[in-house]
Amino acid sequence: MTTQWWRGAVVYQIYIRSFADGSGDGVGDIAGLRARLPYLQRLGVDAIWINPWYPSPLEDGGYDVAGYRDVDPVLGTLAEAEQLIAEAHAGGLRVILDIVPNHTSKAHPWFRSALDAKPGSAERDFYLFRDGRGRDGELPPNNWTSVFGGPAWTRVPDGQWYLHLFAPGQPDLNWAEPRVRAEFEAILRFWFDRGMDGFRIDVANMMVKDPALPDLTGKVAAPGHHPYEDRDELHDIYRRWRQIADSYSEPRVFVAEAWVDDQDRLALYLRPDELHTAFNFDFLTVPWDAAQARASIDRTRHALSAVGAPATWVLSNHDVARHLSRFGRPPHPQGRGIRYVQLSQLAQCPLDIELGTRRSRAAVLLLLALPGSAYLYQGEELGLWEVEDLPDDALRDPTWTQSGHLDRGRDGCRVPLPWSGDAAPFGFGPPGSTPWLPQPPEWKKLTAARQEDDPGSMLQLYRDATELRHALPALGDGTMRWLDTPDEVLAFERGDGFGCAVNFDADPWPLPDGATVLLASGPLDDGLLPRDTAVWLCGGRTAGNG
Ligand code: GLC
Repeated sequence: MTTQWWRGAVVYQIYIRSFADGSGDGVGDIAGLRARLPYLQRLGVDAIWINPWYPSPLEDGGYDVAGYRDVDPVLGTLAEAEQLIAEAHAGGLRVILDIVPNHTSKAHPWFRSALDAKPGSAERDFYLFRDGRGRDGELPPNNWTSVFGGPAWTRVPDGQWYLHLFAPGQPDLNWAEPRVRAEFEAILRFWFDRGMDGFRIDVANMMVKDPALPDLTGKVAAPGHHPYEDRDELHDIYRRWRQIADSYSEPRVFVAEAWVDDQDRLALYLRPDELHTAFNFDFLTVPWDAAQARASIDRTRHALSAVGAPATWVLSNHDVARHLSRFGRPPHPQGRGIRYVQLSQLAQCPLDIELGTRRSRAAVLLLLALPGSAYLYQGEELGLWEVEDLPDDALRDPTWTQSGHLDRGRDGCRVPLPWSGDAAPFGFGPPGSTPWLPQPPEWKKLTAARQEDDPGSMLQLYRDATELRHALPALGDGTMRWLDTPDEVLAFERGDGFGCAVNFDADPWPLPDGATVLLASGPLDDGLLPRDTAVWLCGGRTAGNG
């Protein structure tokens, strides 16, 4: 029988350049990750997802891939990657890797040959090269802009332009070209043959473009007909990928990174013959607010029940401000509510770390109690906050330059982890090494070593929660039933007598009669659940407590 482990897995995201540095060059690597596998086992996660580790000029943190069948020498070797997979499996962990099919790096051999070849050549057909508009073709072929800011087109010396929906160093591939499709199918097999358990698909909703590359009009396109987002033709690609994943004796899995606002449209990617799961960004973008959280949970369950796919729950990743900082100040409308982009905005609204920490503790109990699988972003288990005061010259995210220095970008959630000790590099690398982004001195209070034996630490809460999650059959995949509560309290039951309650912003709420507290995110007040606190319960008459 094949396991459907992915339906209820807790997956830990490894931003490898910032996880652990085994070589001492300031950059996290496979050696560092292998040395920390025991930590991940103790944390109780079921799988890891590793951000791109392929050779890359690093114009977008490795999402500019120069070769898909290798590992960047700064991070290790293919042999080490295979060892890592074997060791993770031996320790009971599955491994998921990022695949980046929307674009390559401009250093990829295909793009280099395309530049060397003539307009109209077969080599250029791997990408989206077009003549410009205007009298001498001096204007971009259309009005699309890059996700990072600025035009989505760059001109090459012979006068043609190429499309890049992200950085200029990330030319978009032409998915109408059969050789592109065949190549990615071969890349999937390459890693699956090496034991990789699955892929996170980067920008899974933008690979296919309207062949006419029309201007954006500002009008809302009919579903499936936007010039480059969420087009219906994408589904053929994923049906094919699913067949490849299913051809292995232990089927491989996919998780889509698809920022598709309409949950019913997102569910289409998760039909039984397509992808297994998708990140739930609807939930990620919810601020600390009971009504909005409940509405998002219901939208998710409703949309996914139509296709039979499990939900995923996620609070943070390498593209958004760490949730401790989001929950520790009022939500900001810009950056999809997930990122304050300018220092002036931050200055007006100081972070309350204690509040953010309290809410983060409650949030993870909610996350891990909801039905489906859950994603944790490295460092959230240590209670790390977004580093908002990185010096300008340390910033590496292309968002910073492409936005004309208006948006400080995503480096603040990518700062290397603090493992031990009282000063940088905090055990991230050997003593004397300099992490590629500076770590705040205050993180000495948050090192993994410091939290190891502290029963009240964030790390211990995460470990307690994953341990219970494994022990209780009610958790993971399955269903849930809301309980009747005041508006600012969310409570639900699962299985036979498991309950989770979160008080977002109400007066202390009386726990159900006779319920036993299995785990609490903070101190309870004589049988009352204070605000910004969550509990896991069993037994008792959980239903009907108003
Ligand atoms: C995804 C990645 C992000 C990257 C972008 C372009 O959104 O998560 O980090 O910049 O794709 O590849």
